[in-house]
Order: sequence, then structure tokens, then C-alpha cells
Amino acid sequence: VRLTGDGAAVRIIDQRLLPTEFVEVDLDTLDEVVDAISSLAVRGAPAIGVCAAAGLAMSMLAHEAAPRHAFIAALRTNAERLATARPTAVNLRWALDRAVHAAEGTTGDGRAMRAALVREARAIRDDDLAMSAAIARNALTLLVAEPIRVLTHCNTGALATAGAGTALAPVLVAHAAGRRVEVFATETRPLLQGARLTAWELQRAGVPVTVLADGASAALMRTRAVDAVIVGADRIAANGDVANKVGTYALAVAALHHGIPFYVCAPWSTIDVATPDGNAIPIEMRGRDELAKLGMTRVLPDGVPAWTPAFDITPASLVSAIVTDRGIHRAPFALGAAART
Ligand code: MRU
Repeated sequence: VRLTGDGAAVRIIDQRLLPTEFVEVDLDTLDEVVDAISSLAVRGAPAIGVCAAAGLAMSMLAHEAAPRHAFIAALRTNAERLATARPTAVNLRWALDRAVHAAEGTTGDGRAMRAALVREARAIRDDDLAMSAAIARNALTLLVAEPIRVLTHCNTGALATAGAGTALAPVLVAHAAGRRVEVFATETRPLLQGARLTAWELQRAGVPVTVLADGASAALMRTRAVDAVIVGADRIAANGDVANKVGTYALAVAALHHGIPFYVCAPWSTIDVATPDGNAIPIEMRGRDELAKLGMTRVLPDGVPAWTPAFDITPASLVSAIVTDRGIHRAPFALGAAART
């Protein structure tokens, strides 16, 4: 995800088309960016933050000539539209707040504020890249067995961030450094981010990857074929409860039962110290069709309702460690206090 050279468009990979087609698209209206985020053309918590900040900067090009107060009014309206595109990943609002703050903190006219937005959008992307690298470094202090054998869920690689990823970053970095790595990736129903995206990314990087149905995860753990479960997060509450792709909670329960460590990797921007615990995290509900259809094929009888949360909450008590760019955090997760230091 990046702003084009002149800041007039946001260039994304349309992740809905992978792995069949690799298509880059330039988004040059606010509506297109909102739609790209809500339809999961761009997805993954850090990536939607990077995309939203870039989209905000792009959208304010049309307001450059406006007086300062009118520019700020439009800026706030556009930021709010982007912030509501998806409710669970806190990185979205975090990135937008950062961008709005940078623009409003700039003295001068619309042109100066828009230049500040472009600079901040690029800084958010650069910071995310650095956070990926730091997460990988920290997580690799936990993944010491040779080979590294992990089970992961959803997609937490380069497609989901500006860098190598969150939970996939240590795997990719270790592989690049010559360590042996074996990854099991859940297919991640209903939108198949694991099968379509994680398997695609790892195969391209040359990392051995095997895909399994979500429902096969506990049986895999029972075979002792993995030494850790490693996932990303969309929002982490102050007490360490973790919102991540639906199915994460079941993995954590099964990991505890089998004595397998359950690690959550996320940039510090995913921690929301204003949210006391998982009950206060809004869980996005998706449309029925995402479950009722596989591609164009109907897999649910008409009239049968579907329950379609995109995320679930894994209680902190099931989390062995939260790995951020700032270090490794273990229970009791006093993340609010850590944020103040
Ligand atoms: O609905 P998605 O595909 O945006 O969900 C993504 C996830 O749940 C990821 O695990 C999370 O954003 C962490 S990604 C680095």
C-alpha cells in the first residue's frame, strides 16, 4: 500500500483476486478507498491503517485551495468516513488520528496541511515497516527450536502490513536467514485469507507451507507437528484480551489443552489502552453471502440464517505472550501502564 509519487492516488494490491490474479489498482477517490477497505481489497490491521492515512492525504488534494477552517472541516469529515469502514482493527483510527493531528498541527493554508498529510502518511508506512522488523526480532527470541514449526491463522504477512508482517514476520525473517521453518496455515473460512494469501506469500518466499481446514487445527496439535501457534491481532485491550480473525479463540483453547504456546504478534499501534477488556471491542459482522457462497457457488440453503462475526476475542488467560515492536509482554498484561513508560 503506498501513495503514488504526487500523492494523488493510493496504490494497492487487490487482495480479493489473489492467488489467481495479481492486480495493482490506483484509488483516486475517497469512495474507492472506503470501498477497498470495507470489501477487503486491502485488509490486515496495519495495512488498513496505512491505506486509510494515504487515502486521507489523497482525498484532501481537492481541498488544497480551501481556507484553513474549510480544509479542517473536510479533513475531519473524510477521516470519519474512513474510520467507519471497518470497526474492529484499531490501527485504522490510530493512523487517521495521527494524520489529522499532523495536519492540524501545521500552521499555514490548505496546501501546507495537505503536504503535512502526505508526509505523515509516508511516515506511518515507514514506521509500520520498522515495527514489522522489530516484531520479528523479538518473536525470534521465543522461537528457538530448530526447525521452527508453527501453526498460524488468517494472513499476517507482507500483504497485511507495510513490512514483512506481524506473526509471519519472524517466519519470513528466519527463513531468509537460513533457518529451517515449517508453517501450517489454516484456510481461514469464510474468506480464505490463509489459503489464498498466506499460502501464496509463503510459497513465493520459498517457505514450506501446508494448508489445513480450520476444523483440523486441534487434530494437528495433537500430532505434535507444531511447537507454537502464532497469530496477529486487530485490537488488543489493556488487559491483554485479543481480537483477531474469527477462529483464533478456538486455536487458543486447543493450544492450551495441548500445552502448546500461543503467541500474538502485533505492532504497538494495535494496543488500545482505552479499551479495558475484550468485551468492549466492537466485533465486525459481515454479510451472509460471505458464508453462504463459495465464489459463485451457493453452499447454504436459502432461508437459513448465518452467524458471521469477522473476529473473535481470545481472553488474555489463553495468551502465552504478546510480542510487539516494544518487546515481549506476558501476563498479567498491564498494557496501559506499559504505554505510559
Ligand atoms: O478481515 P481481515 O483479513 O482484515 O483480518 C485480518 C486479521 O485478522 C489479521 O490476523 C490481523 O489483522 C493481524 S494482521 C497483521
